[in-house]
Amino acid sequence: MITNTELEHKGNLFPGKITSFSQHVDKINFTTENGVILQITVLRGSVLRFRYATDYNFEKDFSYAISEDGARGYSKLEVEEHDSEYSILTARIKVIVNKQTLNIAIYDLEGNVICKDDWGFHWEQSYEYGGNIVKMSKSAPQGECYYGLGDKPTHLNLKGKRLENWATDQYAFGKDQDPLYKSVPFYIGMYEEKAYGIFFDNTFKTYFDFCHERRNVTSFWAQGGEMNYYFFYGPNMQEVVTRYTDLTGKPELPPLWALGYHQCKWSYYPEQKVKEVTSKFRALEIPCDAIYLDIDYMEGFRCFTWNKEYFPDPKRMVKELAEDGFKTIVIIDPGIKIDDEYWVYKEAIEKDYFCKRADGPYMRGKVWPGECFFPDFTNPDVREWWADLFKEIIDEIGVKGVWNDMNEPAVMEVPGKTFPDDVRHNYDGNPCSHRKAHNIYGTQMARATYEGVKKFSYPKRPFIITRSAYSGAQRYTSSWTGDNVATWEHLWIANIQAQRMSMSGMSFTGSDIGGFAEHPTGELYARWIQLGVFHPFCRTHSSGDHGNQEPWTFGDEVVDVTRKFVSLRYQLLPYLYTMFWEYAEDGIPMLKPLVLFDQEDCQTHYRADEFVFGNQILVCPIQEPNAKGRRMYIPRGSWYNYWTREYVKGGMEQWVDADLDTIPLFVKDGAIIPKYPVQQYVGEKKIEELKLEVYYKLGNKEVSKVFEDAQDGYDYVKGRYCLRNFSFTGKENEIIIQQHKTGTYVTEYEVFKIEFIGLPFVIKEVEIDNVIVSLDSIQFNKKEQTIVVPKDFTELHIIA
Ligand code: GLC
Repeated sequence: MITNTELEHKGNLFPGKITSFSQHVDKINFTTENGVILQITVLRGSVLRFRYATDYNFEKDFSYAISEDGARGYSKLEVEEHDSEYSILTARIKVIVNKQTLNIAIYDLEGNVICKDDWGFHWEQSYEYGGNIVKMSKSAPQGECYYGLGDKPTHLNLKGKRLENWATDQYAFGKDQDPLYKSVPFYIGMYEEKAYGIFFDNTFKTYFDFCHERRNVTSFWAQGGEMNYYFFYGPNMQEVVTRYTDLTGKPELPPLWALGYHQCKWSYYPEQKVKEVTSKFRALEIPCDAIYLDIDYMEGFRCFTWNKEYFPDPKRMVKELAEDGFKTIVIIDPGIKIDDEYWVYKEAIEKDYFCKRADGPYMRGKVWPGECFFPDFTNPDVREWWADLFKEIIDEIGVKGVWNDMNEPAVMEVPGKTFPDDVRHNYDGNPCSHRKAHNIYGTQMARATYEGVKKFSYPKRPFIITRSAYSGAQRYTSSWTGDNVATWEHLWIANIQAQRMSMSGMSFTGSDIGGFAEHPTGELYARWIQLGVFHPFCRTHSSGDHGNQEPWTFGDEVVDVTRKFVSLRYQLLPYLYTMFWEYAEDGIPMLKPLVLFDQEDCQTHYRADEFVFGNQILVCPIQEPNAKGRRMYIPRGSWYNYWTREYVKGGMEQWVDADLDTIPLFVKDGAIIPKYPVQQYVGEKKIEELKLEVYYKLGNKEVSKVFEDAQDGYDYVKGRYCLRNFSFTGKENEIIIQQHKTGTYVTEYEVFKIEFIGLPFVIKEVEIDNVIVSLDSIQFNKKEQTIVVPKDFTELHIIA
């Protein structure tokens, strides 16, 4: 044990005794003898903010991450002073603040410790930069697990690791490499099946140590700024994530097509090549909704220009692609070429919108077009200007989505691969150096892009994707995991990253399917597609350096696997869209790592391969060559093998067969899974019926939801959606399906085609809303176990 004196010797400073205390509504301030102030804000009964100042002085309170729409308000707040401590009681937790040390301890209402300071807040003064290196350490009981932190390509459970947040362009990154492109300083801790979360809202370079340096301690610190963190109590892990997501913001619904399959490469050009690729998708009947133009569509890599040799008439091309169901998405980079003939450059110079070094010169750095200057996206005027630059691309040419790249920001051929520390930023009126703005730069670029694309797409919805992101970016954009590699190890990484991003509030994420660098074998590509269709964002992308990566470059077998799995994704679109709606509405993570799905089962705490897609479909990728199947853990409860329809009991490891054309896929019993017919692109077909796959379960009610609306536009915000809540009750000789419908949107189809799976009896009688109907009138098909019924029933009885 290191003593305080030793630590002080190492340059660490600690708060002294509490000398005064005050409370203003939801804010409680403690001041110590040596000028430390701890301000605790009660946002909700289970969400508290802890903010520390030194020298009696808080900085101006400003955050890019916190959403104005987050829920606030608590029902109970009692503060009491005792001999050696203060206690703060909310409806959900109790916080004890030690008068001697300012250390805090958080308890649930039964008196269990949830999270407790070790040394608590301490700091080091930074003479070089000014301000403090702010630090926090917490005790870590044996058996505590840690999750979250964005895109870290390392085991899902972070116990034993030290990690760093500093957005970095990490081409062909490796397993365990850190940091990568994103910086999400939010983690979930769980001890004895009780979960809590900590969001350290500090955009400087931050570090997290989960029992790496000291076995019983977790700590986090930043190279500047304030010790400012939010604490979320669960104890349910999903609630920790939803509370964090509520605080940092939820996305709007994307247009439904954005949940389709996307095809990308660096680069498809000229126009003829683009058309060849899109036509081939149609010819081979592999559904696809989006085609990407990487940097070569530009004139000399100048943003907002077109290479007229490759794309003589982009408006016509985009229109023709649209007629075939393809939405065109283009890339944009932050680096603006230094070129006096280039209007974007000239405007930014005139308006003084480029980032500058400490002593005045512009921040100059090399990216694709050569030497560039970079807009300061932390300046609100710059964001507005940037947004308006999209007028031509979106409004006139008809592009439907924009891909934000290199926004860490990346600079080539320099140490650190980014801006130097002294670069100045506006930071929305809180001028600062790059040390503070670095991690937020990419999010502010994506935000500006989002504003522009939204403005010119309106009344349709925008679609944005970004490589770099900080907490809160989910309000504006989807993301991908950057420049991965075509190896089996990277397939493992992609699986981890998508799950981790989901637990970190950023569900709308996917990897470059097949790998960006190098070239996958057909088998690897097939296995990757099989995982990728279960990621919220689903796109094949590659550097194009080592050969093509369209499904057909790998031969017929892989084409068949790709068609089969992409078609399945398209059938599951209503299920996926409902998942997205639950994420947008309530912040519910779309992918659920097993630990989040069932934290009370300690078998799940270290599982990382299997995950639940939405609420009811269990997915487990095949991550090795030549596999005929694998062992996997099936969570507690009962499941149906999606392919064989075999009924399996969970709660143990099992072998599951999976030849190249399949992967382990299970559906929870009692689930009602909605499906559309396969379409080659969203909107290709009129939906004549909604298929409902009903998986029989004996006992308890099971609830399933289907959310539908116009698939684009903002009418859903005004109540023009259709939300169906199905509850399933299974008996030995009867099943009952109740439907409760809300919203004013009228779906196109009139009927449900219901298929029963695992039904233990022969259907003899069907009752719709208390009326017995003849089996003929509902097209009962005994062999297929299907019936066709009017869509708006409230109660359906299927009787033996
Ligand atoms: C970066 C991106 C990659 C893109 C390439 C060219 O490496 O991560 O996706 O294709 O730049 O724009």
